[in-house]
Formats: sequence, structure tokens, C-alpha cells
Amino acid sequence: MLGFRTITLSLLLSSAIGMYAGSKDIIVDNLGNEHNFVHINPVSGILLLPIEDAAPEGDVSFVQGNKNVLGHTFKVRLARQKVDYYLPVDLSFCDSEPIKMFVNGVPPSSVCWKEISFSDKFDKENIEKFRPVYHHTPAYGWMNDPNGMFYKDGVYHLYFQYNPYGSMWGNMHWGHSTSTDLINWKNEGVAIAPDAIGTIFSGSCVVDHNNTSGFGKGAVVAFYTSAKQTPWGDCQTQSMAYSLDNGKTFIKYEDNPILTSSEKDFRDPKVFWYAPKEHWVMMLAVGQHMEIYSSKNLKDWKKESNFGEGQGCHGGVWECPDLIELPIEGTKDKKWVLICNINPGGPFGGSATQYFVGDFDGTTFTNNYPEETKWMDYGKDHYATVTWNNAPDGRCISIGWMSNWQYANNVPTKQYRSANTIARDLILFKQDGNIFLKSEPCKEMIAARKGGRLVKSINVAKTETISLSPQSDNGAYEMELSINPGKSKKVSFALLNGCGDKVQMIYDVVKNTFAMDRNNSGEIYFSKDFPAVTEMPVGKSKELKLRLFVDKSSIEAFVDNGKFVMTNCVFPSEPYNMIVFENDGNRYKINNMNIYKIK
Ligand code: FRU
Repeated sequence: MLGFRTITLSLLLSSAIGMYAGSKDIIVDNLGNEHNFVHINPVSGILLLPIEDAAPEGDVSFVQGNKNVLGHTFKVRLARQKVDYYLPVDLSFCDSEPIKMFVNGVPPSSVCWKEISFSDKFDKENIEKFRPVYHHTPAYGWMNDPNGMFYKDGVYHLYFQYNPYGSMWGNMHWGHSTSTDLINWKNEGVAIAPDAIGTIFSGSCVVDHNNTSGFGKGAVVAFYTSAKQTPWGDCQTQSMAYSLDNGKTFIKYEDNPILTSSEKDFRDPKVFWYAPKEHWVMMLAVGQHMEIYSSKNLKDWKKESNFGEGQGCHGGVWECPDLIELPIEGTKDKKWVLICNINPGGPFGGSATQYFVGDFDGTTFTNNYPEETKWMDYGKDHYATVTWNNAPDGRCISIGWMSNWQYANNVPTKQYRSANTIARDLILFKQDGNIFLKSEPCKEMIAARKGGRLVKSINVAKTETISLSPQSDNGAYEMELSINPGKSKKVSFALLNGCGDKVQMIYDVVKNTFAMDRNNSGEIYFSKDFPAVTEMPVGKSKELKLRLFVDKSSIEAFVDNGKFVMTNCVFPSEPYNMIVFENDGNRYKINNMNIYKIK
């Protein structure tokens, strides 16, 4: 055993991670050239990996009986200089037999060798002051796009791009959460893990009510991109998996991949049933266009058409498509909406969601407004938005990733990174002969309101400051208000806290715009792209009706209940607990201001 260091752990671990539970050994064998074997003799339990975000990635595989037990080698930023946080690996996959962790590319001097340890539990409650209260987040690790959402038997399923081995992008799995109300989410662990064809990129699920696939009546069928990154370039193909236990576990289809291409960017399958032609449709994002495929059995796909050339914004690659039919509010008409996430090229830099309104005949989408670019959300933090399959009561419900590729890996959280937006009910509305998408806060947000306080009317003749406490005390609240500008040309108000952090909002009555300025909102220096002023059109109206959803580290602004939406992350030192209405000389009125604690 020369050269081995035996670490017997009886440490009192930090409050975030619980107590060490017994006597177990970890033996680290540092070989030459940054290769290492870590001998682990677990009975059961959780291995805590010490992570440092700034450390380069090393390769980690779990070896048992000469086999790579998890079938994949992961990239892990094991701590070299200091531990930023610990991430848990549940060792139940070892079947109580000893395993070895084979680690390549981590020097022997690294602190991780001293800090790697066991625990009987992993406690996420709550070392992150920015972790939202009523938005979905992963229990730990990195999250990007929402994936594969479907509804079945009273449960909303939400999968997501997930790295369980670090809080930065990599090792993509599908994580899984469930909810019965779109607000309280239960972490269900990993649903689909990487394999020999690649890591698991974004995609969708359908409920196969009629057993068209032969996997079983009511089987849940998942489509995802298998992504292989190699020194020779990336390879992206489409794969499928099915679940016979309502989405808890998936069996990968034996003939994957089901669709291949020579295109480098070929991904994010979104599948739905097109009833008039009794076939399935798959939307795929390919470079800067979308491709439409059809299938009768979910396994064999035929290319039908392309969409995108010369349409909308092309400032970056097109990703995460969706195609949905929606009613137009106040009419009996319907139109199809093609959702197209784009990165970069968003209106305020980085990623954003554009959409097209038009017609779809089961094989081809036609844009009714080829001269325009329409944005679904005018904030900096709304991306990869897609909708639920099989949603109840004819609803069309979307959710987006509340971050931006410009800085997502650097936001000031550690144990987890990124949240999703609140869920939104989609519908179309007509304005000035044009048709737009309305994203209403999902109706469940009303039931989540707790302890409201109404301020009936404020006549702003001089600067007025109003406390939002106690509703704002936990940093998770909604404000509803109507602004009647009177003769004012600009209505300026701000959310602020006692530390001087402030988010300025400006309703420009002449330009008919609403702007949010987060330049002084709290922590902003983690990326040069974070400080920003975002602006959106709000149409002409006598009173601007606004709903603001604040949750620790985000603000979502809905004008006219979702006709115009803006989603921005913010990282204040303390919750914003005051609103100040400024006065430019002209009086204006705030009507029916309601402040609700949420959850
Ligand atoms: C969008 C995206 C997808 C891809 C996934 C990888 O944010 O780039 O196109 O499937 O993220 O994590």
C-alpha cells in the first residue's frame, strides 16, 4: 500500500452537508502524470465531491469489476486550491460493493484529495441566499433548458438540462422534477444519463395514448439529442427513450440514434401529435433554421420541410423550437406559433426567444409576418422556452430558463446554478391588425398569494416611499399596480433595499415603453454583460397595468397580464423591501397597489 493515504473520516462536516455517519474508508492513490485511483469501500451513503469552479475539468469514471459502472466518463472540476462547494454522489449504484474512482487530470497537490468524504445525507436547505422560493431550481448542480415537459394523471413533469457533477455547464443529463401546482416542485433525481452515443441534450416528451410506438398504451416517449464532443468536432444525433412508469425511469430505445445528419448544430427535438393528418411532427433546430419531420410510429421519421431562411432574427444559432396552435383572445380563430430560441442575437445581447405567427398544415409552417421579428420576452433572462405536452383543460403552458448564456456560468450562486421562470399560460391577442403572443402568469400564481395588502390609491405629487414589508421580508412576493400617468410624460419608480441596491423602472408615456434598469441592483460585476437596461413596447393605454413577480434573485414584469413581458435576474444584498415613486413635477396616480407574499 506504499504511496496510499488512508483518510478515515469522522469529520464534522459543514452545516450545509450534514454529519458523517459511520466509519468508512477512502484511500487515495496518486499515480504519476495526474492520474489517480480513489478506492472507495461504501456500504451505502453519499460521496461528497469537493468542487472548485475555477479548476480545470478532470476526467472521472467509477470502476467496478473493470467496468465503467455508469457507462460514461464525467468532467469534474475537483478542487485544487480551495473548495467552493460539495456535490453529492449517491453511491447506491454500487450495490454495496467497493468501487474505484479513476480520476485523470487532477494533480496530487489538489485539496480535493484531503476533502473528499462520505456523508449520510446532503442538505440543500439553505446555504444560498439567492435560491428562489417559488421558482423551480435544481437541488444542486447546474441547470439550463427545461426539457420534456408533460402532464399526466394530475402531475406536471419537468425535466431539465442538468449537470449533477458541478454548478457549471457540462455532463448533460436530464434532471427530473414533478409538481401538482406548477409552483411546489419535488426533486426526482436524474431521469436520463449519458451513454456511449453522447451526453443528453435538450428535447421533449409525448404521451403515446394510442400506442403508435408499440412501447405500450400511455407510454411516455422522450426525444433528446445525443451530443458527442470530440477533438474532431461535435456530433449531434437524435435519440429516444420510453417510460412505462409515468416518467420516473426511462428505457433507451435499442436502435438509437433515430435521426442523423452531417450538420454540426442539429438538435432539440420537439415532438407533438398533428390530429388532422394523424401523424407525429418533430421540430428540429438546425444551424439557423428549423426542420420539420413527420412519423406514424415515433421511430421512423421523414423530412417534410425547412423554415427560417430570411425570417426573423439571425444573430445567432437557432435552438429549442416549439410549434403550437393557440386561440386568439376574444375570437373563435386560431393560429400557429413557432417558438424559436436564439443565441446570441437577443435584443439586449446574448440569448432570447423570438416567435413567428402563421399557419401549419402538418408538414409546412408559413409565417404570416415575414417582415417582422417578434420577441416573447424583453428581459435578458428568458431562454429555451418550450411548452407542456398533454396539458390539461386545453391549456398551453410554457416555462423558460431564467438566465442568459452570456453569464449563466458566472452568476453568484454556488451549490446550484439557475432557476426557471414561473410557468406561463399562452394565448394570442390582436393589436392594430397584428397578432401577438400573450404570456400570462399561470393561473396557479393567484392561489400562491399569501397575506395581501392593498394600498388603494397613491397620489404622487412628491416622491413617495412605501414599505413592502412584511410581505417582502422573505424576498418572495408579487406586486400588482395600475399607473395612471395623468400629465406626466415619464413615470419613474424603483424597488430598493436599505443597502442602496435599486432596480429602476420607467414607464415612458410618450414612447409607450417600459424599462428596467439593473445597473445598481446589487451584485453585478461577475460579468460585463450583466449590467443592463432592458426596454419593451407596452402599447397605448390610459392606465398601465403591471404585475411584478420578485423572488430573491429575479424580477418578472407582466404588463396587461402578459401582453408584454420582461424577465431579469438581480442579485441584491438584501430583499428589496421598499418602492419609491419619483415625481417629475406632474402628478400621477398609482391605483390598487396590492402586495402579496408568495408561498
Ligand atoms: C440551449 C442549448 C440547446 C442544447 C442544450 C445543451 O440552451 O444550447 O440547444 O440542447 O442547450 O445543454
